[in-house]
This record gives sequence, structure tokens and C-alpha cells, in this order.
Amino acid sequence: MTDKYAVIGNPLSHTKSPLIHGSFAAATGQDLVYAAIEAPAGGFAAAVDAFRAEGGRGMNVTAPFKLDAFAYATERSERARLAGAVNAMRFDGERVFAENFDGVGLVNDIQRNLGFALEGRRVLMLGAGGAARGAVLPILDSGPAELVIANRTLERARALGEQFAGAAGLATVGYGDLAGERFDIVLNATSASLYGQLPPVPVEVFSPDALAYELAYGKGLTPFLRLAQGAGAKRLADGVGMLVEQAAEAFAWWRGVRPDTRSLIERLTVPLL
Ligand code: ATR
Repeated sequence: MTDKYAVIGNPLSHTKSPLIHGSFAAATGQDLVYAAIEAPAGGFAAAVDAFRAEGGRGMNVTAPFKLDAFAYATERSERARLAGAVNAMRFDGERVFAENFDGVGLVNDIQRNLGFALEGRRVLMLGAGGAARGAVLPILDSGPAELVIANRTLERARALGEQFAGAAGLATVGYGDLAGERFDIVLNATSASLYGQLPPVPVEVFSPDALAYELAYGKGLTPFLRLAQGAGAKRLADGVGMLVEQAAEAFAWWRGVRPDTRSLIERLTVPLL
């Protein structure tokens, strides 16, 4: 029987998830269909209940429902707990398993696709909201020399850091503390690019060999990437690889088969102009 999966969010007009999972299914010979379910505000649980009643096996979860999915789950992975948010669910009878693959998708993209090792490197992450929270554990697990989290609202960065208290090399700072600091990898996990804004990061933070990574996808050369380009950063990237890699993690979790990601990333890449 054809297994049913879906992404749930609102709005979903730009979602790439059906295309990505449809391509994975075709490439791996898996018999499944993948839908997009735009649920109304406050309608998350009812929509998921209905999907499960129709035999749905699993879902991806996107804005604004990542916290609703956290509450809905019966079992949450450590990654989901530390992220405080859920981006994938698997249904098994009454049980709802919850995961968060955003951070591991980011790390896989940086290391495998872009070829930047995190081990021993100085990593700067801008932002301390939902996107940043999911990335901290997978980055720390990759053994950077240092992970510095900078946020406009310092207390929010501190609160995030406290969740990982005792982790070696983890520091939380305000943007003003970054003067004179240089990093090998600079990640923009703020939502500033969605509004065409630039986080107040000093231009000197980019080492000449730096990777500048914008977690948002398909926004072109954002103010952050433009700053990095002007500073001579070696490599600029946006979140297309992260998007495909987190999907591959979910697909493997659901189906037990790991799809290849490279050709799909190439297909979905929008030039950074
Ligand atoms: P998301 O889930 O996309 O991470 P969020 O949880 O609302 O969204 O977090 C947004 C992040 O972007 C926060 O770290 C926010 O900084 P504050 O905590 O100080 O609000 C950051 N952010 C948004 N716009 C910004 C800007 N113009 N400059 C710097 N940081 C910005």
C-alpha cells in the first residue's frame, strides 16, 4: 500500500518539501505520496489527527507549528528537546515520535557538501531564536574549538547558552563584544535577512578563508552575505543544502533508506546574485 506523508505549516505556498520527498521516493524506489497541508492558526492538532486517521505515517512540520508539534508528540528525541521545537514526526499507532533535523542538516551541509570541517574551528553563530537553538547541539557535537553565539538581546543568548552549561568552548556575547574577533565559519541564524536587514556584526569577523552561511534559503545575496563578500570571505552559502539535508534525515528516519542529496541541491540552488 502507498504510504502517506505530508508537510504541515502556514503558509505553504513556497514549500519545497513535496518536491524534495517526491524526488527522494522516486530515486530510492519507495512507494509513498507526500502532500502539503496548510492548517489554520489553532488548527494543528485537528489537522494532524485527521491525517493520522487517514493512515498518515509521518509529517514534516514548519512555521508556525514547530512548538505545537513539540506539545503534540508523545516521545521527543534529545535533539528535539534541546531545540525546544519539532520539525519531523513519525506515527506508530498511538505513539507520536518527534525529531528535529534542522541542526544536523546544517552540519551535514557544511561538512559534507561545502567541505568545511567544524572540528577545531572557531564558529560564530548570529541569533538565539528558534533557528539558532536547533543548531547548537549538532555543532558542539562536531568538536569546534569555539562556538560563540552573538545576539542582539544578550539575555536570550545567555539563556540559550545555559541550556548547554559546561560545554567546552561555548560562549554567549553581544554584537559589541565581537570587535577584533575572527572566525572560520560565520552562520546567520537571525531572521534579519527576511526583512532585508543586517545584524550589527563587525565586518572583521570573517577570516580570509571563512565560510559565511545564511540559514535562510532563496533570498539571494542577503545583506549578511553581501557583507561577507565585501570582506573577502572565501565561500558564501545559503540554506538550500540545509533544507535538502534535513529532509534526507527525515526520509531516512521514516523509510530506513538514505537518499542522495547532491543532485537535488544543485537543482534547487538559486544563484547568490
Ligand atoms: P527564528 O525561529 O527564525 O530563529 P525567532 O525565534 O523570532 O525566529 O528569532 C529571531 C532571531 O533573529 C533572534 O535572535 C533575533 O534577535 P533578538 O533575540 O535580539 O530579537 C534576531 N534578529 C531579528 N532581526 C534582527 C536584526 N535586525 N538584527 C539582529 N538580530 C536580529
